[in-house]
Amino acid sequence: MRRNDRNMKLQGKVAIVTGAADGIGRGTAVKFAREGADLLLVDLNESGLSATSTLVAEAGGRVEEMVADVTGDDSPERIVARAVERLGALDILVNNAGVPPSGHFLTITEESMDRVMAVNLRAPFLLGQAAARHWIEQKKPGRIVNISSINAEIIQGDSSDYCASKGGVRMLTKAAACDLGRYGITVNAVGPGHTRTGMTRHLIDNPELEQDWVARTPLGRLGEPEDIANAVAFLVSDEAAYITGQTIYVEGGRTLHIP
Ligand SMILES: NC(=O)c1ccc[n+]([C@@H]2O[C@H](COP(=O)([O-])OP(=O)(O)OC[C@H]3O[C@@H](n4cnc5c(N)ncnc54)[C@H](O)[C@@H]3O)[C@@H](O)[C@H]2O)c1
Repeated sequence: MRRNDRNMKLQGKVAIVTGAADGIGRGTAVKFAREGADLLLVDLNESGLSATSTLVAEAGGRVEEMVADVTGDDSPERIVARAVERLGALDILVNNAGVPPSGHFLTITEESMDRVMAVNLRAPFLLGQAAARHWIEQKKPGRIVNISSINAEIIQGDSSDYCASKGGVRMLTKAAACDLGRYGITVNAVGPGHTRTGMTRHLIDNPELEQDWVARTPLGRLGEPEDIANAVAFLVSDEAAYITGQTIYVEGGRTLHIP
């Protein structure tokens, strides 16, 4: 296929994308493959992973699937080791796996708070740490992109657990960038607005809710996974070599609008 096109941004790179069975993770994996990367796809959802795998292979990328929970005790090391064993290297980590908010401040249980924080914040920290240790040992540069959210900046109701986790991702991204810059590792984040995926099905299936959201978005539409993937691909490319610690919000201007 088009694997030797010099215009490809990620030719010869190996990337891990978590939460790759659906939505933004799937869109990112396919975009990376089109840009010349090989991929390790990680998710809990086996059938979704196979579907993404097929799309990646069609785009010309070598692909490995790994069914795993990113919060598992030995997951970070196993995931990094799998990429190196099966694909021969690791250049890029995209921490995308995430879970939605679980309700009103007064009703969120301890268990659901722990789950949201474990998937959305603790796992990106531990996986980032495992990847950075690998790169430092190999004396190689590396790229990390964490998928944050506009909820790192603006609040909507019934989402204290989610907002706290994504606010944490924003500061984790800055702090990790500070510590890892001297090793040639960049750490950035992309913060989507409402994007058409399984996570926003409740919005997409309710025309009134969707219309209300669109009316508050200067560019007048919801995001698509490809919109987010394009920003992620830029941040892991050579063109973004001097960018670190930043969050790019890909949200059609939604955070500019006072609710
Ligand atoms: N869709 C939006 O509007 C939106 C907005 C802002 C941020 N985000 C963020 O984008 C990221 C992707 O979300 P999406 O919208 O594509 O949702 P999605 O539900 O379509 O995809 C999330 C994927 O993560 C996987 N996953 C969840 N927990 C996991 C775990 N413990 N281990 C491994 N895989 C796990 C799921 O199986 C799923 O395939 C998330 O971090 C989410 O918070 C989404």
